[in-house]
Amino acid sequence: MKTITLESVKAEQFLSAEVIKALQPKVEAANVALEEGTCPGNDFLGWLHLPSSITPEHLADLKATAAELRKNCDTIVVAGIGGSYLGARAVIEALGNSFEWLANDGSNPVILFAGNNIGEDYLAELCAYLKGRKFGVINISKSGTTTETALAFRLLKKQCEEQRGIEMARRVIVAVTDAKRGAARTTADKEGYKSFVIPDNVGGRFSVLTPVGLLPIACAGFDIEALVQGAADMEKATAPEVPFDENIAARYAALRNALYEAGKKIEILANFQPKLHSMNEWWKQLYGESEGKDGKGIFPAAVDLTTDLHSMGQWIQDGERTIFETVISVEQPRHKVLFPHDDENLDGLNFLEGRRVDEVNKMAELGTQLAHVDGGVPCLRLVMPELSEYYLGQLIYFFERACGISGNTLGVNPFNQPGVEAYKKNMFALLGKPGYEAESEAIKSRL
Ligand code: PA5
Repeated sequence: MKTITLESVKAEQFLSAEVIKALQPKVEAANVALEEGTCPGNDFLGWLHLPSSITPEHLADLKATAAELRKNCDTIVVAGIGGSYLGARAVIEALGNSFEWLANDGSNPVILFAGNNIGEDYLAELCAYLKGRKFGVINISKSGTTTETALAFRLLKKQCEEQRGIEMARRVIVAVTDAKRGAARTTADKEGYKSFVIPDNVGGRFSVLTPVGLLPIACAGFDIEALVQGAADMEKATAPEVPFDENIAARYAALRNALYEAGKKIEILANFQPKLHSMNEWWKQLYGESEGKDGKGIFPAAVDLTTDLHSMGQWIQDGERTIFETVISVEQPRHKVLFPHDDENLDGLNFLEGRRVDEVNKMAELGTQLAHVDGGVPCLRLVMPELSEYYLGQLIYFFERACGISGNTLGVNPFNQPGVEAYKKNMFALLGKPGYEAESEAIKSRL
């Protein structure tokens, strides 16, 4: 099997080899600190050896649960927010049909994502869509108390019980949550739902290879064994004993830290495959929540190309020069479409007749990167052989490991997220939640 590779497109124009070499000891020490559990946030390192420690029994349990849901449901709603849904969505969208809702032939359930916003219209339309459908729910929340997810779950549980009866609802609602704490655990135990545990030492954004991601992915009909195998192979390929020049996680961490020090404060993750849109979203959370703290951190932005070249292309080419770009390039598409002939040739594109659409896409990719380099944007390139479970597993683990190394190199704790509590405190104070009386008075005096 091949491995994902990391290239820099003319990075030497922006960073000398000496700068990278100077960072190498710090980056290597950061990877060793992860491995030895001596870094900040070391009580959240459960993801590090997760791929190699997942047992066949655990995968079999997940697959059996997915089979039961697939048998009893035409639609499965995954309720979760942030790390409790982005990874599953990224993999399912990368592997699924781009027009699932049109192309679904009934052999797979429709997978929907909810519990990730407080949009009243969204929830009303979701409930309306589910009317009359044989739907099930995977309720995913580590804390078990997240407002967005708890709200959606209240609505979904009630509707599922009303539509399908209490007994069937108990068979088609599954919880993925903490072993002991939180409302999701209490409800699951009380109702007798099948449940899976999110390990204490795995934070939300690093949890895609736990049941948080694996169960929805299996429900969608994808091969979770291959996904885990890809991740396990990448676990080996990025371990501290792998020399720096061959270790893509260490090199990526070094390059992005060097670019940050050189004033490149924004990293734009770009894909040339719309199927990777949600992978961008997962990556944004992983890096944003891990590194953006203590007044530091690269701002992770993302674009779908070539689509966004027609909206954000001007800024990237010509705006403030504080950005660098990382392109995910997929070598082989799954399908073959040739550029068609047109008798009139009004658009002048007959010179492309008979050539693969992907050839055009690849030239757009190369042309874009060279243009961006010319415009002062350093470009990195991650090359994946294809969009398959195996290579997505590699990609996920690569980004996780590199994130841990990069955050340690930056000097932050990559595994906490104290900043996300601020909006919750204000929201609860404004809503008059019991226990928030003092905050409520304080915030009202500011309005
Ligand atoms: O990465 C994180 O910790 C967060 O994004 C959480 O996953 C998110 O806030 C959801 O939390 P919970 O799973 O407790 O509902």
